[in-house]
Amino acid sequence: MKVGILTSGGDSPGMNAAIRATVRVGITKGYTMIGIMGGLQGLLDKLFVKMQARSVANIIHRGGTLLTTGRSKEFRTTEGQKKAARILEEEGFGALVAIGGNGTMQGMDKLQKYWSGQIIGLPGTIDNDVYGTDYSIGFDTAVNNAIEAVDKIRDTAQAFDRFFLIEVMGRHSGAIALNVGISCGAEAILVPETPTDLQAIAKDIIEGRKRGKSFAFVIVAEGDEEGDAMEISRKMSKLVGEECRVSVLGYIQRGGNPTRQDRILGTKLGAYAIDCLARGETGVLLGRMKGELAMTPFADTTKPKKLDEYLISLVDSLSI
Ligand code: F6P
Repeated sequence: MKVGILTSGGDSPGMNAAIRATVRVGITKGYTMIGIMGGLQGLLDKLFVKMQARSVANIIHRGGTLLTTGRSKEFRTTEGQKKAARILEEEGFGALVAIGGNGTMQGMDKLQKYWSGQIIGLPGTIDNDVYGTDYSIGFDTAVNNAIEAVDKIRDTAQAFDRFFLIEVMGRHSGAIALNVGISCGAEAILVPETPTDLQAIAKDIIEGRKRGKSFAFVIVAEGDEEGDAMEISRKMSKLVGEECRVSVLGYIQRGGNPTRQDRILGTKLGAYAIDCLARGETGVLLGRMKGELAMTPFADTTKPKKLDEYLISLVDSLSI
């Protein structure tokens, strides 16, 4: 069988481990493995590359994605989805493995209406907002990248007794913010999933100062409803009565060598994708839930993924 593999949406560290495992386990099973460059647009543009075992050598430790990625406007249209189905049919593909986030899984849900081949999805996004897996490939590395940066900012914040606002990634998800904030000892954590009360946060910071706290920092997810980091810092400066410095961590979070967790997760899910294809599975996202390999129909992957409520409940008492 001819199996296509692509990465789509934001790249995430560990995608390469998943590509490597899918390609090598696929070859071991006797499949012809075809890499599709540039994500779903690459499928529409027929950017196909035959993958051999050596094509995926020396990538397991690298961030980014060997196959490159993209966000395709054309694929979002019904015409684009039908065109992709036609191409897969004409080129003789029997299966497709798509690694990406929510947008990619929604795209796969649409594609399966027009194409009879098998489709398997793997959760690759730093945002950890795909329902059907406890952790997505890349989340652990992104959180660790951000922790490293925040620890450095903390040094200079402490040296100057300053108040900092640090923005982390997550347009619709506070998973990175919550994990970084708890791991670094933030005063407050602003996430898109819960309402933000800037006045209450300002009050806590002022009172903390009175109790002898020398510096403070707040972590904000880029998707918070109070605005971007610059806007929130202007509001906070006024409310707290002192200048709020801003650091936007940005794309530094998305690159770099994947952690052990992301290498293992990518490898496991990549290999599992081939096992599932061999068993005739289709239309599902593969993930790990409570330690067990799990399958979730594409249509269910957009269900809201809850943040760890227990962790959220600890923020106030941990920052007294
Ligand atoms: O991949 C997820 C993500 O990094 C989000 O956290 C962020 O909002 C978005 O991608 C940025 O997208 P782009 O790379 O298109 O700027």
